Amino acid sequence: MKAIILAGGSGERFWPLSNSKKPKQFLRLFSDKSLIRETYERLLYKMNPDDIYIVTSENYFEITKQEIPEIDEKNIILEPIPRNTAPACMLGTLIAEDNETVVILPADHYIPDKEAFWNTLSKCIKAAHKYDGLFTLGITPTRPETGYGYIEADKELESNIFKVKSFKEKPDQETAKSFIKEGNFFWNSGIFIWKKSIFLKEMETHSYEIYEKLIDIDPFNIYTLKNVYPDIKKISIDYALMEKSQKIYVTKTDLLWSDVGNWVSVRELAGYSDNKKNVHIIDGENVFVKSNKNVGVIGLSNIVVVESEDGLLITTEEKAQKVRNISQKFKETD
Ligand code: GDD
Ligand code: MG
Repeated sequence: MKAIILAGGSGERFWPLSNSKKPKQFLRLFSDKSLIRETYERLLYKMNPDDIYIVTSENYFEITKQEIPEIDEKNIILEPIPRNTAPACMLGTLIAEDNETVVILPADHYIPDKEAFWNTLSKCIKAAHKYDGLFTLGITPTRPETGYGYIEADKELESNIFKVKSFKEKPDQETAKSFIKEGNFFWNSGIFIWKKSIFLKEMETHSYEIYEKLIDIDPFNIYTLKNVYPDIKKISIDYALMEKSQKIYVTKTDLLWSDVGNWVSVRELAGYSDNKKNVHIIDGENVFVKSNKNVGVIGLSNIVVVESEDGLLITTEEKAQKVRNISQKFKETD
C-alpha cells in the first residue's frame, strides 16, 4: 500500500498566520506540530516511511522538508504549478504497482485519534480490495456546509459500506439543505482509497484529457512535468472523477474529523482561551486567542484574536469568515 499526502493547496482563510508561502497545511493550529506533520505521523503510526509520499508544489519543497525533516527526498513529488487535486492524485497513484492500493489524504485535516483513524481506514482498504471501486470515507453531516462534497448512499453492502448513487461536489446552500433533509447523504472526507489499476481505468474513461497527458510520465521528473503541466486542466478529483464514475463506494465513519475551514472551526475544536497562561479576560466570555504574546481582553465577548509576525486579526466569530477579504486587501496594498 502507498499513502499519498496532497499538500499543494493554497489558501488565505487563516490570515494572519497563513499566506501564499505558508498555507493551512503548514500551520500549527492545534499543537506544536503543523497539520501536514500530524498527517504524516498519523500514517507512520502503522506504515513504513518508504511508502508515504507527499505531492506538493515546488514552492513548498523547503517548508515541507522543514516540517518533516526525516522524509527522504525521493518520497516528495513536486508539481511545477498548481493544477488542483485531479492531476496530483494521478501523479501520486502512478508510483504504485498496478494492483497496489493507494490511499490519498489531504494534508490539512484535524483527526486527533490515530487508532480510530486506522480502524476505519483498514476497513475501507479491505472493502476497496473486495469491491474494486473508488472508495471514500464518509462523514455524517451536521450542517448544510457548502464547502464539501456530498455522497448519496445507495445500498448498504455490508456494515457501513455503501455503494454510491451520486456524488455532488460543493452544492449550493439550498441543495445542501435538501441533502441533509433526505438523510442518506455523507460528507466526503477527501480521503480516497483505490487500486491503481481501477483508478487509471476510471480516469481514462471520465477524465481522458488529464489521463493521456500524464499516463506515461515519470512523476519524479520535474523537467518533464514543467513541459506538460501548463496544458493540464485545473480541476479537483471530485469534479474530474468522483462526480462521474459509476464505481464509487463509501465507508461510513464516526471519526472525529474536521476540514478546519476557518478560525471558528479551530476554536470549536481547540476550545476558548480562558485557561491559557498568556491570556487574561476581564468582563468578557467566549474569547479565542492565538498568540505567543501576553494578551489581555476587557469587556469583549465572542471574539477571535490572532497575532503573528505578519499582522493582527480582531474579529467577532460571526464575521470571522471575512478574513479572506482582509488578506486580499493587504495583498493589493503590498
Ligand atoms: N499537490 C497538490 N496540488 N495538492 C493540492 C492542490 C494542488 O494543486 N490543490 C489542493 N491540494 C491539496 C490541499 O493542500 C489539501 O490538502 C487537499 O489537496 C484538498 O484540497 P482542498 O483545496 O482543501 O479541497 P477542499 O477542502 O476544497 O475540498 C475537498 O475536501 C473536502 C473535505 O475536506 C473535496 O474533496 C471535498 O469533496 C471534500 O468534502
Ligand atoms: Mg480542504
